[in-house]
Amino acid sequence: MSTTATLASSTPAQDDPSFIPRGPVDASIVFYHPPPDGSKPFYYVETPPPGEPQQNYSEAPHSVSLTDIRNHESDFTLDKDAFQTLQHLPPSRADPSFTDDANIKAVYYPEVEDLILTHVPGAQRVFIFDHTVRRNKPAAHRTPVTRAHVDQTPASAEARVRLHLPDEADTLLRSRYRIINVWRPLNGPVQEMPLAFASATSVEQGDLVPVEHRYPDRTGETAAVRFNPGQKWYYWSGMGEGERLLLKCSDSGEGVVGRRVPHTAFVDPRTPVGARGRESIEVRCLVFG
Ligand code: OGA
Ligand code: FE
Repeated sequence: MSTTATLASSTPAQDDPSFIPRGPVDASIVFYHPPPDGSKPFYYVETPPPGEPQQNYSEAPHSVSLTDIRNHESDFTLDKDAFQTLQHLPPSRADPSFTDDANIKAVYYPEVEDLILTHVPGAQRVFIFDHTVRRNKPAAHRTPVTRAHVDQTPASAEARVRLHLPDEADTLLRSRYRIINVWRPLNGPVQEMPLAFASATSVEQGDLVPVEHRYPDRTGETAAVRFNPGQKWYYWSGMGEGERLLLKCSDSGEGVVGRRVPHTAFVDPRTPVGARGRESIEVRCLVFG
């Protein structure tokens, strides 16, 4: 019996810094835990006012079984699951560093708008209101998010329309509007901190808790997520730069089954030592029609 051989063969993948974890995995995801005093949950996006905590609720990790959607991409749709994949896209013409917001807005935004008009059934008009570049490395401005959430609630989606398109809002709000995030890696394929997402059909309305999102100049609303064993969580292994994940945060459409997809980054326990830190961009779009 050779103990050395057993040890050496127990973690071969984690010794290979180019290894990409794939297939089903159990991982820890952080869920909402209510404030003990029953008050309405809030979160300060920047430094809280003196004497106030950053947030008044807590969070707790829960082990979740994740299914890899790789090779099953076409099973999932925006209308049913509230997420959808796109593949085989040409390289962006944007500056590959994705460090210049003006360049991202001038070059990458129109590409995202085209993508939505081409691939999202019903989309007639797109208004892009925000983007976030995340880099999982020290001193990064924004890093991956490790708490299950939905970016907007129905109330804050409506407020977004009023904020960005005030003159047309009353008319636009009478027809279908959606908020869709278009997510892609910037240094794919993703090796660590992939995104997990739960099919909308598996998430009960009671699993979602509105949280005040307090910016210095205004208050938005996001949804935190309570754990529920009925939730079905997925990820997309080794997502590449020619791939996009569409995450629908809100949908006013009548009779639509899947309206919003909870999502979060997670630590994959199979991540190899020396993995490339994930870098990504998500672009937030109001989609009309
Ligand atoms: C998003 C999001 C988190 C991440 O795209 O809305 O929450 O870690 N992303 O990329
Ligand atoms: Fe998000």
